[in-house]
Amino acid sequence: MTEELTRSQELISRRKAAVPNGVGMFNTATAVKAEGAIITDADGRELIDFAGGIGVVNAGHCPPPVVKAIQEQAAKFLHVSFNVASYEPYIALCEKLNALLPHGGPTKTLLVSTGAEAVENAVKIARQATKRQGVLCFTDAFHGRTLMAMSLTSKVAYKPNSGPFAPEVYRTRFPNFYRYAAGRSEAEFVKDELHGLHELALYTVAPENLAAVIVEPVQGEGGFNVIPKDYLKGLRKWCDQHGILLILDEIQSGFGRTGAWSAFEQMGVMPDISTWAKSLGSGLPIAAVVGRAEVMDAAGPSSIGGTYIGSPVSCAAALATVNYMEEIDINAKGRHVGEVIRKRFEKMKDKYSVIGDVRGLGAMMAMEFVKNGDPQKPDADTCAKLMAACSKRDLIVINAGTEKNIIRVLCPLVISDDLLNKGLDIMEEELGNICS
Ligand SMILES: Cc1ncc(COP(=O)(O)O)c(C=O)c1O
Repeated sequence: MTEELTRSQELISRRKAAVPNGVGMFNTATAVKAEGAIITDADGRELIDFAGGIGVVNAGHCPPPVVKAIQEQAAKFLHVSFNVASYEPYIALCEKLNALLPHGGPTKTLLVSTGAEAVENAVKIARQATKRQGVLCFTDAFHGRTLMAMSLTSKVAYKPNSGPFAPEVYRTRFPNFYRYAAGRSEAEFVKDELHGLHELALYTVAPENLAAVIVEPVQGEGGFNVIPKDYLKGLRKWCDQHGILLILDEIQSGFGRTGAWSAFEQMGVMPDISTWAKSLGSGLPIAAVVGRAEVMDAAGPSSIGGTYIGSPVSCAAALATVNYMEEIDINAKGRHVGEVIRKRFEKMKDKYSVIGDVRGLGAMMAMEFVKNGDPQKPDADTCAKLMAACSKRDLIVINAGTEKNIIRVLCPLVISDDLLNKGLDIMEEELGNICS
């Protein structure tokens, strides 16, 4: 007799038959409903969500004011195209973002639909503003899956046989202190890594050919690697010396995740352009390119945009999200959630030698698994086992890192302490089982 499939299993088997294999799948969870930090699956099981739709629901699943704003806007109009008829929610959202994320003077914002699209446009604007072509990016970077964004993305496994890639893209080493410091102090390490820029200018690309440097202040997919503050300051200085624009990609780190609207404001560095998406719209597709007005205005008429630049419903969702985030002080929540996770992860690190590093900024917290305490020996196996074990206990956790050996937490920041600790208890118990 064949065993009957659960509804989730049935859904996954339909997915396998209908959806291409190349679409990423962290685990076999399903969803029919979500609220706060809980996802209800097709069999009615309540799952604790430590993935937050990959950093999209900082304000929680379905915040009531956001749902209301979506419903109200949907009843008015769904689409006219901002190119054809200007509408208030778009303009109000740009005004809000300009005020929240000033770029050192008059600031302007372009809205698009996805993070990758924001990155594409940021590069296009930088090229037009500087009349140069080159773009410098980093190892372990993730900037999306469209042509330019994919070319800037580091992980080779994300782009097998997908070339030719966009030309004039140069890559240098991300200053990953844990992996590369090899006993040096942070100050020594930063000095050496900044010297790498000098060498890059000699051997790889002339700085006067570079339009922009793009970097995530805290790498997301790359494993929550926090850029050393003084490196970012040095990079800013190097850009200024050579007339290069600095693009900071805050798509994963923005909107409270690091305990502030942006990671860069905590590092004392101002970008020329920055990119935003994910938690801006609480799940509706919306992304933003924010930048110094004179840089943003350098793009020629009709050279940026598209049919769906800032859907009215997405704009309404984003405005309501940002207002709601202000109301509940999302940044304080990010700092609090981050402190709880950091303490628990550090306790786990003391117990289990397989954890080589605990790191992050605010609630953008991760732990890295390595063999024999060696940062050069990633342990993807333990990471995969932990994800699978947590999944069996109704906790959704996702990995990160080019070598898939890092567990990252991107839970909604509105999660209660009880639920957060319940999830962390599961993680700790399951890690204990794996390590025993
Ligand atoms: C830092 C960063 N940039 C860009 C992107 C691409 O965004 P999207 O998936 O919306 O295209 C991501 C997505 O994970 C990201 O984390």
